[in-house]
Amino acid sequence: MTLTQHVRNGWYLGAWSDEIGRTLKQRWITDIPVCFYRLPDQTVTAVEDRCPHRKYPLSLGHLDDEGTLQCDYHGYRFNGQGVCVGVAEQADRPKAALRRFPLVERDGAIWIWPGDPELADESLLPDTSWLTDPSWTHVHGVVPLKARHMLLLENLLDLTHETFLHPTSIGNAAVAATPIDVTVDGDRVGFSRRMIGIEAPPFYEKSCGLTSPVDRWQDGDFYPPGIFVLNIRVAATGTEEPDGFHMKVLYGMTPGRGNETHDFYALGRDYLIDDQELTKFQHEQQLAVMQEDVDALEAQEIMYATDPGGTAESSIKSDLAALRGRRAVAKMLAREQRAQQDARIPHSRASV
Ligand code: FES
Ligand SMILES: [Fe+2]
Repeated sequence: MTLTQHVRNGWYLGAWSDEIGRTLKQRWITDIPVCFYRLPDQTVTAVEDRCPHRKYPLSLGHLDDEGTLQCDYHGYRFNGQGVCVGVAEQADRPKAALRRFPLVERDGAIWIWPGDPELADESLLPDTSWLTDPSWTHVHGVVPLKARHMLLLENLLDLTHETFLHPTSIGNAAVAATPIDVTVDGDRVGFSRRMIGIEAPPFYEKSCGLTSPVDRWQDGDFYPPGIFVLNIRVAATGTEEPDGFHMKVLYGMTPGRGNETHDFYALGRDYLIDDQELTKFQHEQQLAVMQEDVDALEAQEIMYATDPGGTAESSIKSDLAALRGRRAVAKMLAREQRAQQDARIPHSRASV
């Protein structure tokens, strides 16, 4: 596992809507510094956070009421389209424009496409309507992770780790003991695990008021390169749908700078949606579980970083979804690199 380069022709969760307002926010995405802000009409904008004059971060500048962004080093000013409209030192305006990124703001999430804008395709985004569906409630946020994106991706595509890493909350022996079904559809990878008549892990006992035995389903979908959606159903054994408790977890696995990753999360449920205590409990649990993952992945990152291409890995059956996920990202990266090469090499005329 050496994949440390980032796919750029893909959607990443760039920010939650409530993080972005009329102040400038810097966030590194796939090794690119990005400055997010809102224009006066509330549309969100993301530009490369490097001034075209001398590369000073624009996020250290100012945004005025008209939506003009000023670099606070030598005063270049840019309109809402990122075009330079003037500079204090001279009457004629410098020819300069900011690189702007394709964005989609939907259901409280801001998705960014850091690669070729021509390829940005909204249909590649997952359905996130549950984030604003009135019959659901959710909590969300972002956790910093000092580990490469691929390690987080493998963590989510192989949930057998719940048994060992999260034994006091969401894991128990049944998870690792139950095999998964894996599906591959183009670049997308899915897995499902059906645990029937098992002991309820503590999180589900408390969250759903259930006593063992329960049936627990996990359906994970990876939308490469950086989106993962987990559908969870828990029900008293034998009742199944529609009496089960439904939860969804969305993860935005967004590469930051170097081997750092933004670990965006949203945890939703479709029952007891007005129960604030339950929301608080679930949010605390979610963060506690994520911290266990962060601690593990940061320890793992050191081992990969100090052993590049060294020790061979051993794999087992439950790695299948994670291996498919790795392959999907590697294929996307190879496609992207080929396209870049083709763009650099002028096509020779067809030989006769
Ligand atoms: S670096 Fe921005 S104006 Fe000079
Ligand atoms: Fe985990």
